[in-house]
Amino acid sequence: MTDTLENLATESRSFPPSPEFVAQSNVTAAIYDEAAADRLGFWAEQAQRLDWAQPWTEVLDWSDAPFAKWFVGGRLSVAYNCVDRHVDNGLGSRAAIIFEPESGEAETITYADLQKRVSQAANALTELGVEAGDRVAIYMPMIPQAVVAMLACARIGAPHSVVFGGFSAEALRSRIEDAEAKVVITTDGQFRRGSSMPLKPAVDEAVEHCPTVQKVLVVRRTGDDVAWNDERDVWWHDVVATAPDTHEAQDFDAEHPLFILYTSGTTGKPKGILHTSGGYLTQASYTHNTVFDLKPETDVYWCTADIGWVTGHSYIVYGPLSNGATQVIYEGTPDTPHKGRWWEIVQKHKVSILYTAPTAIRTFMKWGADIPAQYDLSSLRLLGSVGEPINPEAWMWYRDVIGGGRCPIVDTWWQTETGAMMISPLPGVTECKPGSAMRALPGIGAVIVDDHGEPVGPGGGGYLVLSEPWPSMLRGIWGDPQRYKDTYWSRWPQYYFAGDGAKYDEDGAIWLLGRVDDVMNVSGHRISTTEVESALVSHPAVAEAAVVGATDETTGQGIVAFVILRGGIEDGPELVQELRKHVGHEIGPIAKPRQILVVPELPKTRSGKIMRRLLRDVAENRSLGDVTTLADPTIMNLIQQGLGAGN
Ligand code: WTA
Repeated sequence: MTDTLENLATESRSFPPSPEFVAQSNVTAAIYDEAAADRLGFWAEQAQRLDWAQPWTEVLDWSDAPFAKWFVGGRLSVAYNCVDRHVDNGLGSRAAIIFEPESGEAETITYADLQKRVSQAANALTELGVEAGDRVAIYMPMIPQAVVAMLACARIGAPHSVVFGGFSAEALRSRIEDAEAKVVITTDGQFRRGSSMPLKPAVDEAVEHCPTVQKVLVVRRTGDDVAWNDERDVWWHDVVATAPDTHEAQDFDAEHPLFILYTSGTTGKPKGILHTSGGYLTQASYTHNTVFDLKPETDVYWCTADIGWVTGHSYIVYGPLSNGATQVIYEGTPDTPHKGRWWEIVQKHKVSILYTAPTAIRTFMKWGADIPAQYDLSSLRLLGSVGEPINPEAWMWYRDVIGGGRCPIVDTWWQTETGAMMISPLPGVTECKPGSAMRALPGIGAVIVDDHGEPVGPGGGGYLVLSEPWPSMLRGIWGDPQRYKDTYWSRWPQYYFAGDGAKYDEDGAIWLLGRVDDVMNVSGHRISTTEVESALVSHPAVAEAAVVGATDETTGQGIVAFVILRGGIEDGPELVQELRKHVGHEIGPIAKPRQILVVPELPKTRSGKIMRRLLRDVAENRSLGDVTTLADPTIMNLIQQGLGAGN
């Protein structure tokens, strides 16, 4: 996959850290050397960020590779580290969570409040019969009780399996079943764009077929009527709010399971990614501190992810709370009640660190710079991006329009499987290039290799692999050790294969090119869907683009692009020709899309990932596959109707 990649243009702009940022940075360039000189010693030092009930005897046991054990023999309480120790350190009155509901008054929850709430929930779960090792499914909207529920599970050693509230009853059922969950925690409903939507009916439907579920614990959020099973269902306000608000945190082995989080693989069955305690919390805490240059006394941090995804686990719950951060949690959508909602929140709570996804940034670009311009965003000092490659145009827009040209942007590459960030600039140390995740974090080994597993040099492209075990690595796939080996460790046994394509620029900076399954092969040339998309959105007429490789008799695969135009731009054959030419100009004639389809929306999951599989179905004139994970399943009708109408 090398020759075409080498010819693809890379972005030449580069932004070194400002002297002011460097002067106050948490770390210096020495951290890279320290980690390289003694990798395990470096991780042992990072683990000292946490309070351990019993020290470990060995940093890493890799004798049963690829099954790792970190901090062997060590014992700790994850919940104590995220909550109680801050109270013990005199920080009980610090705001842990500033909850901004979709509408109504914000609520501030201090670390002392959080300690009481988590203790009550832990007591209630114990009372419901949950014991260490039992699995608890959590199916909730973005409300503080979701965080409390996760921490309460951690506190009693019951691994949680958070299932995104936008998943269907069927998706919930298969996850409950796979994990054999004993309790499900949910709400009556959730607020969405000004109205209330039921949630509990999906749980009722799911658990009907799940004999392992003994209790369903329900938070009253919307107040809407819900069906009730007296034997099984209990209200949160009846059993949690009335439980004793003190609870002695127990410690667990460093390798005690902390959570399972399901993620889709190449087969239809989602993989239950298993994370454990000590290594996971070490890396979540370390990366949250260094990559965001966190100053817990003064920063107001806001990660816009949902707790249903790994970003919500590591960078809403475990990373920030272990670091004693103050953070905003927002329940609603960016356009309710108006399109300036996020910027209003930044202004109101003086958010200083914002962590979001490229898809959100491109949506805001589409809505126009005049919306954020109406708010005071001067509190922001650092911006982060995660989830997909960020195209240079979106990166620059983020920097200029949101960050006022003064905030470093950390483009953080990682996965559900990696548990925490792996590749990212360090904002006070590394330069930032628009669209590059730059380099492996200290302590992490990331390499780009060719088909034979040989590392490629500067300017070369290939597959991203991880060359060293890392503390927050997945410990396996729940109930399926063989699938863990096959999926991640079989292509090149000495490497963890991440499934992403990547390339180095001439300076050795890493550029992610999207999933390898999204890399197209056109006439024997490999072209990244991401780069074609990036080329398309660099045209002033285009707001957003998604590109797929569709089977083509002549060329193997043909490039099919779906584009959303910016407001006021007229669709037409001239424009399509111009866009093809533009892509040819940006990358090379080989990358010119075979077909460009103008559409009103793109199919996205609730985490903002474009579902290319569905676009491929459209591009190849097939009937659509499963649409249940779409944020808005009606979008596919809209796209197909629009195309049928003559585009
Ligand atoms: C992609 C989300 C480019 C990548 C944390 C990875 C990225 C997958 C980036 C994991 C980034 C994530 N640049 N691509 N900064 N971050 N990805 O498990 O393809 O939801 O393999 O974890 O998202 O997605 P997941």
